[in-house]
Amino acid sequence: MKKILVTGGAGYIGSHTVVELVQAGYEPVIIDNFSNTEERSLQGIAAILGREVTCHRIDCTDTAALRRFFEQETGIAGVIHFAAYKAVGESVEEPLKYYHNNVGSLVALLQVMQEFNVNKLVFSSSCTVYGIPAELPVTEQTPVQKANSPYGNTKKICEEILSDLATSGSDMYTTALRYFNPIGAHPSAEIGELPLGVPNNLVPFITQTAAGIREQLTIFGNDYDTPDGTCIRDYVHVVDLAKAHVVAIERLLSGKAENIEFFNVGTGTGNTVLEAVQAFERATGEKLNYKIGPRRSGDVPKIYADVTKATEELGFKTTSTLEEAMKSAWDWQMHLQKTEE
Ligand code: UFG
Repeated sequence: MKKILVTGGAGYIGSHTVVELVQAGYEPVIIDNFSNTEERSLQGIAAILGREVTCHRIDCTDTAALRRFFEQETGIAGVIHFAAYKAVGESVEEPLKYYHNNVGSLVALLQVMQEFNVNKLVFSSSCTVYGIPAELPVTEQTPVQKANSPYGNTKKICEEILSDLATSGSDMYTTALRYFNPIGAHPSAEIGELPLGVPNNLVPFITQTAAGIREQLTIFGNDYDTPDGTCIRDYVHVVDLAKAHVVAIERLLSGKAENIEFFNVGTGTGNTVLEAVQAFERATGEKLNYKIGPRRSGDVPKIYADVTKATEELGFKTTSTLEEAMKSAWDWQMHLQKTEE
């Protein structure tokens, strides 16, 4: 069984990817510093798989600790690098924290990978690199723009680091997946998103509002140039997104990948915030308390993916509808509440 290092493997997308890797016949090994997740995600993974997955409590910016990890865990065939901070607003207030962690961890990881002759990497990127796109849907050829937050800039810089490494003649092979908006949870409801404090993202805010933890959802603006005036996003089920990592690492390990490749990972369909709310209501039978508020500064009015490249070259396909994703997010919320009682 090929051993895959998954950094940030106890996090939201990481934990789902660990499950999919095992189910596809890989042996994932997690490293995580638990700065934005909890041990319970490891228990959830174990509950789904019927066995535990090895996890090392390591900070990815710690080069010496990474070295010790590679010395101990021999035979790592490839790496999927999730470990990063992801709160856009916080990154504006604490940019150095974001540059240190997100850029620093990638550089440290690549250096140690090179030392140990591990040369296959899947990197978590984001559609944030496209900024406010001039044309929709966005393809991988859509120009990358100046980032509108330090968080977004870390993703752009990390992509540039990977490109520079590819053109340097190094034998590192990297695939950057540009995620659109991941939502939902594993159908078992054993793992899902664990937002700390008040959620910034739409779907955890919806589920917490329906569960009575938050009083009301504010929809940020209904005066955009979209059919109902609310912003458009491409909401992709986290399990579908997790599977994209499995096919990406498979392609790297099979030797078919170029030195550097970029793929959009979304559904190819854009939905407005109001459509997302309605999908939640339909899927769960819950009535959501919401109001329309002012625009949120920095929001992209509309973005959704062209996923032709991922479909054709990775064999990626989405299997879940928006309703199914919403239902899974709600089941996870209910599971969280039951286990916290
Ligand atoms: N929204 C609301 N109310 C809320 C939260 C969100 O109306 O309480 C709206 C936003 O205005 C936006 C949509 O719901 O139109 C989605 O917002 P999210 O915060 O869930 O997601 P974003 O698209 O803003 O951000 C996501 C990721 C970022 C990434 C960005 C790239 O969370 O990490 O996509 O575009 F940088």
